[in-house]
Amino acid sequence: MIRGRGFFEGRRTLANDGPPAGDMTRPGPSSADAAASPPGPGARTAPAYVPPEITVVIPTLNERDNVPVLAERLAAALDGVAWEAIFVDDDSRDGTIEAVRALARTTPRIRGIRRIHRRGLAGASLEGMLASAAPCVALIDADLQHDETRLRQMLDILRSGDTDLVVASRYVDSVETGGLSEVRHKGSRFATWLAQKVLKAPLSDPMSGFFAIRREAVERVAPRLSDQGFKILLDILASSPEPLRIREVPYVFKPRLHGESKLDAAVVLEYLGLVVAKLSGDLVSIRFLMFALVGASGVVVNLAVLWLALAAGAGFAAAQTIAMLAAMASNFTLNNALTYRDRRRRGWRFVTGLLTFAALCSIGVVGGVGVSTFLYDQGHGPVWWLAGLAGAAVGTLWNYVTSTAITWRSR
Ligand code: GDD
Ligand code: MN
Repeated sequence: MIRGRGFFEGRRTLANDGPPAGDMTRPGPSSADAAASPPGPGARTAPAYVPPEITVVIPTLNERDNVPVLAERLAAALDGVAWEAIFVDDDSRDGTIEAVRALARTTPRIRGIRRIHRRGLAGASLEGMLASAAPCVALIDADLQHDETRLRQMLDILRSGDTDLVVASRYVDSVETGGLSEVRHKGSRFATWLAQKVLKAPLSDPMSGFFAIRREAVERVAPRLSDQGFKILLDILASSPEPLRIREVPYVFKPRLHGESKLDAAVVLEYLGLVVAKLSGDLVSIRFLMFALVGASGVVVNLAVLWLALAAGAGFAAAQTIAMLAAMASNFTLNNALTYRDRRRRGWRFVTGLLTFAALCSIGVVGGVGVSTFLYDQGHGPVWWLAGLAGAAVGTLWNYVTSTAITWRSR
């Protein structure tokens, strides 16, 4: 058996007789079989197609250099298995999808989905899983931090039939993580604790981005999953209509080889949003929570500027106008980076977006100033902040409706 050139086998596998189509449990032909009977004219009469038993979904964002390495390692780890890999790329700027296409040209085992104008690990992962027709799907990062040699064991557990979901966990048997910085390690532990307490997820690593699952289980829960955020596993667990039969296998989280982690403060916010959304029984969406959070920060900006302007001797209406404009600019920037980061407007579209937002919000400003000035003039003189707050509330409501429908509409 020759390791490392495994994914060139795919074509031979197609041309040779493997297990009959529909037999999901028997492994495909090994490289030894393939090498022993090279395809040639008339060599085989009835070429049998071996459908993949497992689809490995790999979300990518700027992972060009990791793509060929991972493909090679998957071929070695899954030697003898009928597997395929789907890379789901959110239009990386570094040419990741070209690296995927280059591999796809030499083997049917590898495919790539290029998503345009969309961002998000959870959405990309889900899209890859839903593009599969195999009985099992696995999710693994492209950056080689997850140990792909576990995949075989994970598949074997699913094959045994009494398990729906196998999670590769960083903390099982106290296997410690080597690939996380001190701060991220603590943060990850806290998020795990929160998930266990709040969502009653009986897992030692509910944050894991490395798992294998029966595709039917994904199909069932797919319409209820959020396409925002990082934590698709948690979402699957929390949203599943019936409890899933789960097993865990340990692995060691390795340091990144190329590129950098995309887990940033916004991702942490999204995670907290997911927890609250699930706690509320999906009553409020993550997007709404983010918008409300940004709105709250806008209120702070509004009041701070109002206070400054009043202190500088401005009339109330003028002071509140300036305050609402400042809050609007700050809200646009934050919403663009957080709430609507999957539809983020960049470059020229950032400018036109700000103008659209400003035009729509100026209507809200007029309404807000009207309401707050009216309240202020009603003789509630000393309660200036209440008047300011009412104005901000009217503006915020208007902003939310028009933002979702117009400024950041999905294209
Ligand atoms: N398509 C797409 N879109 N892929 C993305 C996006 C996105 O918006 N953001 C990140 N990715 C890809 C990366 O290219 C990488 O292959 C994988 O998703 C994970 O991203 P990282 O930025 O490397 O995440 P991490 O290493 O900090 O955390 C990962 O491992 C943890 C431990 O299992 C994630 O999988 C976490 O969810 C997980 O907890
Ligand atoms: Mn990573």
